[in-house]
Amino acid sequence: MKHTEKGKEKNIMDYDTVWPGEGGDAVMIIDQTKLPGTIETIALKTAEEIWEAIYLLKVRGAPAIGVTAAYGISVLAGRIQTEDYDTFLLEVQKQKEYLDSARPTAVNLSWALNRMLCVVKDSAEKPVEEIKKTLAAEAARIQEEDIRVCRKIGEYGLSLLKPGDGILTHCNAGKLAASRYGTATAPIYLGEERGYHFRVYADETRPLLQGARLTAFELQAAGVDVTLICDNMSASVMQKGWVDAVFVGCDRVAANGDTANKIGTSVVAAVAGCYGVPVYVCAPTATIDMETATGAGIRIEERPAEEVTEMWYENRMAPPGINVYNPAFDVTDHTQIAGIVTEYGVARAPYTESLKEIFARKERIDR
Ligand code: MRU
Repeated sequence: MKHTEKGKEKNIMDYDTVWPGEGGDAVMIIDQTKLPGTIETIALKTAEEIWEAIYLLKVRGAPAIGVTAAYGISVLAGRIQTEDYDTFLLEVQKQKEYLDSARPTAVNLSWALNRMLCVVKDSAEKPVEEIKKTLAAEAARIQEEDIRVCRKIGEYGLSLLKPGDGILTHCNAGKLAASRYGTATAPIYLGEERGYHFRVYADETRPLLQGARLTAFELQAAGVDVTLICDNMSASVMQKGWVDAVFVGCDRVAANGDTANKIGTSVVAAVAGCYGVPVYVCAPTATIDMETATGAGIRIEERPAEEVTEMWYENRMAPPGINVYNPAFDVTDHTQIAGIVTEYGVARAPYTESLKEIFARKERIDR
C-alpha cells in the first residue's frame, strides 16, 4: 500500500515509528491503530496525550514504548517552569510515575523512564535549563542505541537461519515496534538484503491484529515473501514442514528465561515443540529483567472486553453481557525456548547462567 506525501511516493518503511517534534515540544508517532489503511502522524504534547497513545496502542511494542516515554519525559520536563533543582526533580518524578502507569508488562517503559530520571538525579549541580538539554540528548541516545541493538540482534538471529528458511512470527516485533529493524524481524530484513529469500508466516494475532495490520504490512512493504495466517493455523503450517524456526519478540524476560510476549506466543511455542521447530526470542538487554526471577513474577496486563467482542468487526461478534478474559500477554516457559537472541549474543539454556553471562559481556564491552 503506497501513500503520497508532497508528491513523493512513500511506504511505511520510509517512516520512523517515533521521532522528536521540531523544537522539542512534542513526540511524533505514526498512529498504529490506523494502519494499514492510513499512515497518519500525530504530535503528542501533553502527559495525557502521551499516556493515552501508549495505553491505546497508537504506539506499541516494547522498544517503541520506551523510546516514546523517553522523548515524552523530555518534552514534559522542557515545560517545567522553575529554576529550582528540587522542584524540577519532584515534577519530573511525578510525570515519570504517571507515564510508567500506562502499561505494566513491557519493562522497556520503566527502563527508559528510570534512565531519564537518573540523568536528572546525576545533574543536581547543573542549571535546570542545561538538564533539559541533557534529557533531550539522552532520549535521542536511547533511540540510536535501539537501532544499533536491533541490528546486532539481526546479525545474531541471521546466524541461526539458512537461505530459503520458513519463519513464523507472532504479533509485531518489527520496525513498527522499535526504531528501525525491529527485533524478531531484524534477521528477516538483514537476510532480505543478503538474498536469503525467507518465507515468513505472520500470525494475525488476535484480538488487536498486530500481525495482520502491522507485521504483514511492513514486511510486504519491504518486499519480503510474507503469508498471513490466522492464529489457529500455526500447527497446520508446521505440520506441513513449512516452518524452520519461530522468531518472536518479548516484553519482559525473567532471569530464568521465562518470557512474556503477546498473548498466544506460548501457544505457538507449545505447537512448535510438538513439531520440533526451534523457538527464538529476540530480546534487547533492555527487555531482560534480572530483578524478576521467573515468569510467575511478571505482571500481565488485562485489557477491555470490547477488544475481543467488537473491535475491528463491523458488528459486535459476541452476545451482550458475555464474560470475557482478555490478557494482553502470556508467559512462554524457558524450557520451550531454543535461544534468547540479544545484542551481545545468543543465550542458551540454562538461562539463569547464560543471561548473567550476557550481562557480564555487556559490562565488559560497554566499559
Ligand atoms: O501489545 P503490544 O502490541 O505492545 O505487544 C507487542 C509485543 O508483544 C511485541 O512482540 C513485543 O513488544 C516485542 S516488540 C520488539
